[in-house]
Amino acid sequence: MQSVGIVGWRGMVGSVLMQRMREEGDFKLINPVFFSTSNAGGAAPSWAEGAGLLQDAYDIDTLKKLPIILTAQGGDYTTKVYPQLRAAGWDGIWIDAASTLRMNDDAIIVLDPVNRHVIDTAMQKGIKNYIGGNCTVSCMLMGLAGLFREDVVEWMTSMTYQAASGGGAKHMRELISQFGILNHTVSDLLADPASAILEIDRQVLAQQRDPQLPRDNFGVPLAGNLIPWIDKDLGNGQSREEWKAQAETNKILGRGEGFDLPLIPIDGLCVRIGAMRSHSQALTIKLKRDIPLDEIEDMIKSGTPWARYIPNVRENSMNELTPVAISGTLDIPVGRLRKLNMGSDYISAFTVGDQLLWGAAEPLRRMLRIAIG
Ligand code: HSE
Repeated sequence: MQSVGIVGWRGMVGSVLMQRMREEGDFKLINPVFFSTSNAGGAAPSWAEGAGLLQDAYDIDTLKKLPIILTAQGGDYTTKVYPQLRAAGWDGIWIDAASTLRMNDDAIIVLDPVNRHVIDTAMQKGIKNYIGGNCTVSCMLMGLAGLFREDVVEWMTSMTYQAASGGGAKHMRELISQFGILNHTVSDLLADPASAILEIDRQVLAQQRDPQLPRDNFGVPLAGNLIPWIDKDLGNGQSREEWKAQAETNKILGRGEGFDLPLIPIDGLCVRIGAMRSHSQALTIKLKRDIPLDEIEDMIKSGTPWARYIPNVRENSMNELTPVAISGTLDIPVGRLRKLNMGSDYISAFTVGDQLLWGAAEPLRRMLRIAIG
């Protein structure tokens, strides 16, 4: 059994990763060595029988002994530790949730139900870095893989509705705190059916604008609001989150610069909304040709075993195509599929995915399975 160093197992992504690995019996196949950035010498998690003590996540000599390291510790850790480890001659497999190494030539973005061929080729070539993709990109591809596999997409725009969890655990807490404060502000008025709605609205807005409303993480209120910018400003009008859509999708698919297949243009706007842990996106897809909707439906259904086609009717859309409907599951519903007024080769679609599962933890644990053979 191979030893696998596990770093960042206690955070939000790490906890979901550990939960999924336990559910799938992954720990029966490896000898886990748990690391900590703050509690070296403490006890490894109690559910990992015989895992012993926590090792120091900054101790290069200890890390170096492991053939595989799996980290969900975050970008700062990767930036600090990864170069030291390679400089020390470590030749193992690095599996990482952070974006730090993602676009490097010697790194593969892993989403094996979509790009197993890219991963297998890389493994044969001796590539050692396997990095989870951006959550929005991974969830979109898990839903639309069939369309890309059939190579029917000429270009695509994606307008996102991204959940608080994409920012981190503190952001989720902040959102719910904000909701609570807003509710509390008007609870007496809400309890009185005769109260004036415009007075409720006025008081809620005043509270949202009150500098005392907790907003350290998002910077502005998110409850009852939205934020039309995610991640850094690249200085060209595009956010870093928006840049990732084209860059990462094409890299995952093995398209664009350095590959035989041409790049597919993908662009859009990324927006934070007050959902908890599932990202949604509205897509406009320019097809290479006019394809009947039932054929598109078949392509989506056959894309990945987790893509779930949702008929484009009101009831299904409201009940099955929402963050609340799918959070905590691996399902990727794809619905609102129809031809747009622009022409018969333009379609809309709407898709939702749990950004902690397919968006973060699941591709990593599946890559670990591939790495241990
Ligand atoms: N950058 C994403 C977000 C999450 O902020 O929603 C990580 O992929």
